[in-house]
Amino acid sequence: MKNQLNSILESFKDDIKNIKDLKEVEELRIKFLGKKGLMTDVMKGMGKLSQEERPEMGKLVNDVRNAIEEGIEKVKDSAKEAMMEIKLQTETIDVTMPASEIEIGHKHPLNLVLDEIKDIFLGMGYKIAEGPEVETVYNNFDALNAPKDHPSRSMSDTFYIIDDMILRTQTSPVQVRTMQAQQPPIKVIAPGRCFRNDELDATHSPMFHQIEGLVVDKDITMADLKGTLDTFAKRIFGSQTKTKFRPHYFPFTEPSAEVDVSCFKCGGEGCRFCKGSGWIEILGCGMVHPNVLRECGINPEEYSGFAFGMGLDRITMLKYEIDDIRHFFENDMRFIKQF
Ligand code: DAH
Repeated sequence: MKNQLNSILESFKDDIKNIKDLKEVEELRIKFLGKKGLMTDVMKGMGKLSQEERPEMGKLVNDVRNAIEEGIEKVKDSAKEAMMEIKLQTETIDVTMPASEIEIGHKHPLNLVLDEIKDIFLGMGYKIAEGPEVETVYNNFDALNAPKDHPSRSMSDTFYIIDDMILRTQTSPVQVRTMQAQQPPIKVIAPGRCFRNDELDATHSPMFHQIEGLVVDKDITMADLKGTLDTFAKRIFGSQTKTKFRPHYFPFTEPSAEVDVSCFKCGGEGCRFCKGSGWIEILGCGMVHPNVLRECGINPEEYSGFAFGMGLDRITMLKYEIDDIRHFFENDMRFIKQF
């Protein structure tokens, strides 16, 4: 038995030299200490020993067992370290490698221009006002002094939800909401979506965007309106831009005008872009009609105001020379990515 134990210990010492990883450590443990292992075999022989032999042999078995256990613990630790070393070497990160490209989003061109327009007016002390896309006929037409038989009220022009509820056809009802909610001084712009029963083509969309402006205070005059919009046009289209106010008609303003800017492509000479006229129409405006002020609870004897409304889609198309409004709503990344 002694010899058996010695040869087990010797072969353990031989085996342990060749251990390379944790899997081999485990195989070694099973071979020597496992249920069917070499040490278990030896122990089985204990029963055959005499009373006198037993204590001495028992001690020897324990010593060999302990030696094997210790050896295994040690080799386990160094195998772990070796494996960690390999792991660290193979998994090193080269921080100087170029990173893989991260695709970040693009702002939609309408938002780019809207941000620019907001900045211009916020810089002049305006606040942003908002209103719902589903509006009352009263706010969209009646309170804005629109004649009862105005063609824009018809089903062929306006999307009706029920008799007196529509999808707003303009952002002008936000004027009504603002004036009904507060007394002057008022100085707001109201950007938002509008809807009209139009056929979709290169320049028309049943859903489009407007930006409304409203200023009401004591002694507001047409000169304030002209100065404001001229400043705006120069900021958005360039400092050399000239403006022209052409008389027009809107039910909610009196007098009313349309504003043209000198063509930023040819400088006013006349080109394909401005259809030879040298001018490009950009918005409608006027002095708020006394009927509108009165209807919204503001005394027209005490206060006056101006208003304007512009198409965001149109201004963006002009600014970026986009030839088709449908590009805005098709979400084609090849288009969006250009901005
Ligand atoms: N709401 C008008 C439209 O949709 C645009 C407009 C014109 C708004 C003159 C105004 C304004 O506030 O004063 O055509």
